[in-house]
Amino acid sequence: MKIYVPLDSVAKALGADQVADALAAEAARRGLDVEIIRNGTRGMIWLEPLVEIDRGDGRIGYGPVTPDQAPALLDGTADSLGPVEAIPFFARQTRLTFARCGVIDPLSLAEYEAQGGLAGLRRALQMDAAEIVAEVKDSGLRGRGGAGFPTGIKWETVRSAPGTRKYIVCNADEGDSGTFADRMLMEGDPYSLIEGMVIAGLGTGAERGFVYIRSEYPDAIAVLGAALDHARAAGLLGPDVLGSGRAFELEIRVGAGAYVCGEETSLLNSLEGKRGVVRAKPPLPALEGAFGQPTVVNNVISLATVPVIFEKGAQHYANFGLGRSKGTMPIQIAGNVRYGGLFETAFGMPLGELVNEIGGGTASGRPVKAVQVGGPLGAYFAPAQFDTPFGYEEFDGAGGLIGHAGIVVFDDRADMLKLARFAMEFCAVESCGKCTPCRIGAVRGVETLDRIARGDPAAADLLTDLCETMKIGSLCALGGFTPYPVMSALRLFPDDFATRKEAAE
Ligand code: NAI
Ligand code: SF4
Repeated sequence: MKIYVPLDSVAKALGADQVADALAAEAARRGLDVEIIRNGTRGMIWLEPLVEIDRGDGRIGYGPVTPDQAPALLDGTADSLGPVEAIPFFARQTRLTFARCGVIDPLSLAEYEAQGGLAGLRRALQMDAAEIVAEVKDSGLRGRGGAGFPTGIKWETVRSAPGTRKYIVCNADEGDSGTFADRMLMEGDPYSLIEGMVIAGLGTGAERGFVYIRSEYPDAIAVLGAALDHARAAGLLGPDVLGSGRAFELEIRVGAGAYVCGEETSLLNSLEGKRGVVRAKPPLPALEGAFGQPTVVNNVISLATVPVIFEKGAQHYANFGLGRSKGTMPIQIAGNVRYGGLFETAFGMPLGELVNEIGGGTASGRPVKAVQVGGPLGAYFAPAQFDTPFGYEEFDGAGGLIGHAGIVVFDDRADMLKLARFAMEFCAVESCGKCTPCRIGAVRGVETLDRIARGDPAAADLLTDLCETMKIGSLCALGGFTPYPVMSALRLFPDDFATRKEAAE
């Protein structure tokens, strides 16, 4: 009998380690031959700890499990969820990037290969750098960190840039509220990230890479660190990648808790041991990045998607999606929602379907008032906009952004003025201080929102003016995008801003 208990940090926070211990102790007491495998999570967070038992007829799910259920689980008398892959939330997904996450032991290279791992790298090793870059361009892959810049064009810039050394930097400083895709991937299928970075090295001429992970992700750091050791021992990393004569080495750098270090130039400063302050662009990191050399900076999900593109072919990947948003996106559904978790699907699903059908509406059972898409800098959407298809251009056209694809759901008790104030305060606290519209503007923004709350009639126009200045005058996305949540809240929910005024009058 094989029993799978996730080692993902969310599952652990909900008691997965205690469940694994209880199952091991109960099996030992009964003298049963049981193999307990610590897998990643399937991403159905409301079911964690989700235990899967394979008695030879497929993986049957149980969850959320508590340690005292160990005897019933081993007896086969516990209530089951049925085959895990038939649970509707899972069955409706198109898992390309996350195909192995939750399925395999994250540190078993043998299981990784058995599930399609390394096939992409082996194919890439038969190609020259220009062919590798062309394959990524043809797939239509765009930056999954948020900006959606075409990955192949970024690689092309680095490939053709003059430079003695080039670098691949993975941005794993996942700071957006409601997002956890990077963490889940690193904890559940770290070799896909490593394989993607090796392919990026082959495509651009870089022989060295860094994964910059936020310190708030100790489990991801531990799992990825162990995966790097295994990869080195197996010849996947080092001076002779899989016997090809090509070199690639990779190391982890840990951040120190600043949100702005997710911005690529600030990240590079931090990686180099400097203060995490934003650098002006140009020069682009693709031309002068880490240590002044041409550097690819890509998000975890962008890089971890590269192996499946090479395994199945660019066209296979490009066949999914909508318009210029090709392929799939791991959408993270969080906040006041019934079925929170990671849902990987082809671009194009309407926002309302994601919130009400996939997410099951609010956990409180009350009506949805608003959803924030794209992290703390993302715009709020009201139910009237729920027909917006999930895609870069479609969200842009609706006055928002998909960002790193986090959706945070709020019910009708949400106070949008307070949420707008939170966005401004977040910007004031996290500002790196380099440019005036953000450093001073965010502080003035908090004060102006407080004036609105006190009923000052001139304050709303002032806020609009200030947001316009921040939007066009800020050096990076932190100051430049904070107006999105603030102005969308003001535009969509004027009553929340007016009530205070009336109350004061
Ligand atoms: P950007 O639009 O300035 O740049 C996008 C990327 O394309 C950068 O890597 C840039 O260096 C590169 N690039 C642009 N032109 C290029 C060229 N000609 N050749 C090669 N590379 C080129 O956007 P930025 O400021 O890097 O990112 C903003 C986004 O980050 C926002 O959309 C936001 O959603 C997202 N974000 C994500 C967070 C997360 O936790 N994942 C946190 C905060 C923001
Ligand atoms: Fe720094 Fe804010 Fe300016 Fe970005 S917008 S460079 S975080 S001060």
